[in-house]
Amino acid sequence: MLQLGSLRIENGLIMAPMAGFTNLAFRLLIRRLGAGLVMTEMVSSMGLSMGQKKTLEYLRSCKDEKPLGVQIFGADPQVMARAGMIAAETGADLIDINMGCPVKKVVKTGAGAALLTNPKRAAEIVSAVRRASSLPLTVKIRTGWSPREPRACEIAKIVEDCGADALTLHPRFASEGFSVPARWDWINKVKQKVKIPVIGNGDVFDASHALELKQRTGCNGVMIGRGALRNPWIFSQIMSLEQGQAIRQPAIEERKTLIMEHFRLLSQTLGDKKAAFAMRGALIFYTKGLPHSGRFREQVTYIKDSRTLAGAVDLYFSGLPEAPASES
Ligand SMILES: Cc1cc2nc3c(=O)[nH]c(=O)nc-3n(C[C@H](O)[C@H](O)[C@H](O)COP(=O)(O)O)c2cc1C
Repeated sequence: MLQLGSLRIENGLIMAPMAGFTNLAFRLLIRRLGAGLVMTEMVSSMGLSMGQKKTLEYLRSCKDEKPLGVQIFGADPQVMARAGMIAAETGADLIDINMGCPVKKVVKTGAGAALLTNPKRAAEIVSAVRRASSLPLTVKIRTGWSPREPRACEIAKIVEDCGADALTLHPRFASEGFSVPARWDWINKVKQKVKIPVIGNGDVFDASHALELKQRTGCNGVMIGRGALRNPWIFSQIMSLEQGQAIRQPAIEERKTLIMEHFRLLSQTLGDKKAAFAMRGALIFYTKGLPHSGRFREQVTYIKDSRTLAGAVDLYFSGLPEAPASES
């Protein structure tokens, strides 16, 4: 059980915020499959506070995906506070502050992982958002900007002192991108530094990794990103493993059914054209490791029309050897 302020997440399992992936359609799907909490992708606090229609779209939600965390990014405490209020007014159940994004466009404004190098500003932002809303408040950080300046423990303490209810650590330095494995020992170090719950994140690709992460770090919750894009069943598999039950691996046919349902939800929520674009991205993960998947992905790269893309998925999966669902 994971307590995030007033919000209780029974299984302690969270789907990571992921730009381009954790839209409403995917969040609905992943909640059905056992994630305890889902998050929007990072949303610009400036865009929200200026009332930009495109930015406000990211907050679109519905009751079946609840509870929903809205992740905001920005460098101005007052703008972040206003964005937090807007998220609360539009029905968010939790606000998460992004202090880990290494993308140039974001860090050059002083937001995302740039805040790891500016503890004073980081503190002002957490305090301002805390004052603006009584919703559960979490902050997602990396270990620091670069291996020369590990800042996770310092920032974690600031985040706690400024009133956040929990903290997520993705234990890589911003300068590293994904080029090195996540260093879970940092989660352990941060856990010893603060009293608020710590959510561990990074390189959980199967159910056993989640249990190992908890055992090795003592983290209170587990956040999963790429592992859940490849295998959306991972949340229920973790719960099975925790209860000492066998893990069920879905058959190929089930994977195809899930993809088609994802596609349907995307079309329903985004319209056909945007759905095809989003689905092409999702297919990269869904087909990883399957026979001839490289060739399939090349074939679908330029398909813009939903019906043609659905046909290509159908054809690809009907050509795969039928592996029955298995238990391990
Ligand atoms: C395509 C992609 C998009 C991401 N977008 C976000 C984001 O919007 N906000 C955020 O805090 N982290 C984002 N992340 C980082 C993930 O939330 C997560 O911390 C990271 O992928 C490590 O977890 P994993 O090993 O389980 O994937 C993104 C990662 C990827 C690969």
